[in-house]
Amino acid sequence: MSSLIQQEWASLAPEGTNVQYYAECGSTNSVATEAGAEGFETPTWYVTGRQTAGRGRRGRTWLSKPGNLYCSLLTHIGVKLSDLATLPYLVALAVRDTFIDIGCAPDTVQCKWPNDILINEKKSSGVLIESSAAQSQMTDFVVIGIGLNLANFPEDTTFPATCVKRETGIDVPPSTAFKSLSKNMRRRLVAWRPNDVSTLISEWRDASWGMGERREIHTLGETFVATLDGIDDKGGLKLRLEDGTMRVLFAGDVFSGPQQH
Ligand code: BTN
Repeated sequence: MSSLIQQEWASLAPEGTNVQYYAECGSTNSVATEAGAEGFETPTWYVTGRQTAGRGRRGRTWLSKPGNLYCSLLTHIGVKLSDLATLPYLVALAVRDTFIDIGCAPDTVQCKWPNDILINEKKSSGVLIESSAAQSQMTDFVVIGIGLNLANFPEDTTFPATCVKRETGIDVPPSTAFKSLSKNMRRRLVAWRPNDVSTLISEWRDASWGMGERREIHTLGETFVATLDGIDDKGGLKLRLEDGTMRVLFAGDVFSGPQQH
């Protein structure tokens, strides 16, 4: 890769943020995690045009064809491991800001728990947050991996997917989306107060998909129907089960309600 391309990508991120661009790599999350373990400087974005081993949440594969944006931020945010539960909401809102910046109508862009962004109710981005804890209760470094579907999307998914081009007709180069995303992430991370997330959570909730409605919930061992009732101050999804009892979820997937299957 020519150093000109590297310089061009580096010029897109806010001042004080490093960028490493690769024409192709396995997974930007893996590259960033290795760099974090080796003590590389942060904050640094690892960006690629194509991933050969893109990773999704819960061990899934993330199809990574050219034309979309694949990037991971390696950062030291020095928060307690328990505080990371609210980070997905911040990242989801930064991704939402980005889709709006690049031309999506705000009311078409919704946050789906825990950190997906939908355009016209179809998944348009994925976020994979991984962390390393050097001391027991504090994070050492955090890797925030983000994939934005700009030009293509997988067809055979359990939750329907789409891309910006399909929904708006707009061709957005990955570099344009990255410039906006890196700015939005920086702004939101600087303002993040892990001990005071009420404003963040209410902003996420105002833009959320399915809140107050019956949805099908998938966890590692169970599938059940519940009404999405809100987010608690620790970042858990509050659910009202069919028998009226409440439950709080920290990991899982939400699908359309049973009547919509
Ligand atoms: C999901 O399952 O929804 C999360 C997908 C996360 C994909 C992004 S693409 C950039 C970064 N590198 C990876 O291997 N995964 C994340």
